[in-house]
Amino acid sequence: MDYEDLRARYGSPFYLYDLKILRHSCSMLRQALPNPAILFYSLKANPHPLLVQELLNLGCWAEVSSLGELHVVLEAGGDKADILYTGPGKSRAELQRAVEMGVRWFSVESLTELEKLRSVAIDGNPPLQAIMRINPDQEYTGAGLAMTGTPSQFGTDEQALLRELKKLHLSENVQIAGFHIFNGTNTGNFETLSDSFLSSIQVMARLARECGIKLKFVDLGGGFGYPYAVEGSPSNFGGLKVRLESALDDLMPGWRSEEPSIAFESGRYLAAASGTLVSTVMDIKESKGSRFIILDSGIHHLGGMAGLGRIPRVQYDILPVSEMPADRHEPAKVVGPLCTPLDFFNKSARMPALRPGDLVYVPNVGAYGITASLLGFLSREMPVEIVVDGDEIKQVSQLTLNRIEK
Ligand SMILES: Cc1ncc(COP(=O)(O)O)c(C=O)c1O
Repeated sequence: MDYEDLRARYGSPFYLYDLKILRHSCSMLRQALPNPAILFYSLKANPHPLLVQELLNLGCWAEVSSLGELHVVLEAGGDKADILYTGPGKSRAELQRAVEMGVRWFSVESLTELEKLRSVAIDGNPPLQAIMRINPDQEYTGAGLAMTGTPSQFGTDEQALLRELKKLHLSENVQIAGFHIFNGTNTGNFETLSDSFLSSIQVMARLARECGIKLKFVDLGGGFGYPYAVEGSPSNFGGLKVRLESALDDLMPGWRSEEPSIAFESGRYLAAASGTLVSTVMDIKESKGSRFIILDSGIHHLGGMAGLGRIPRVQYDILPVSEMPADRHEPAKVVGPLCTPLDFFNKSARMPALRPGDLVYVPNVGAYGITASLLGFLSREMPVEIVVDGDEIKQVSQLTLNRIEK
């Protein structure tokens, strides 16, 4: 794709997503997983309708954490039976709406939430399927962001579940189908990820015995890491398949005939490589010995959540679109156009002799890019999103933020 041509047509900055790359990432991840296994696409990484549709067409199920994400899946033609609704703090109204819209599978974060789900189940319909999200006793270190084994708003502590066992088996209209453990996101190390899954399989097999539950569905979560806003490729997770298949054979022997079904979730691994943020250099200035390169894109378009610690604050790779001699790269601070010193992409970059008007790009931002940013901050226009399939442009669209009177 010719970035100059796209800028001439659609303006700058823009996000570019390539479906061809998305398909490749999906196939790589599938090959690394036990077979059969369900692979959920976590829409939080990128709810762009065309990316979602492509992944659903590739056989992914949808993991949604809001009614907004649910709408995207249904509009993309997603099968209601293949949706898992997750996330802490679900309201009764939200659960009720999701059930009315046809969702049957819920990751249940607490016993209070289980009660809420029971209260919205519709009599006479097939029972809703709850998978209890567990916060295991053991902490898992090594994830970019660990979410279990420590005090956490996610899931129910193993011990709390065992103490309240009777509450699990109270009603017919919600069945306890199994468990969900999500140990953390962005794990780049194969051994750590593999150990985390093995430990979850053990915890779930034991809990199923202790709780008297016949496992129908086991969601082992994910955490498949991918470089974020820097060049590079992911670790090779290929060895997971053999290790996990053998553990499943031992501890959940029916899994090959989907008793239980085994599921994994991924947002970032699936979507990251497909996305690139392309931006224009607006100004270059020297200030007290430092060179500042000011772009027309900043934390309102990329990585705004880094400020919240959701994504580690890495120094992004800002790459010139035109070839430039590498020996003339000099230190620079690459910043955005917002009125805050927090708006920077890289404070210790080495950049070539760019000029205003030059194009640069940030790679690997198909996940946690635009919708994980500070979109409303400073009320600037949003970047255009261009979806291509190799050389063919599929769709050009722009998000907007509207105020409506209530
Ligand atoms: C329950 C759950 N599933 C899936 C994901 C997606 O993680 P990732 O995009 O790192 O694959 C997250 C991320 O926080 C999560 O909390």
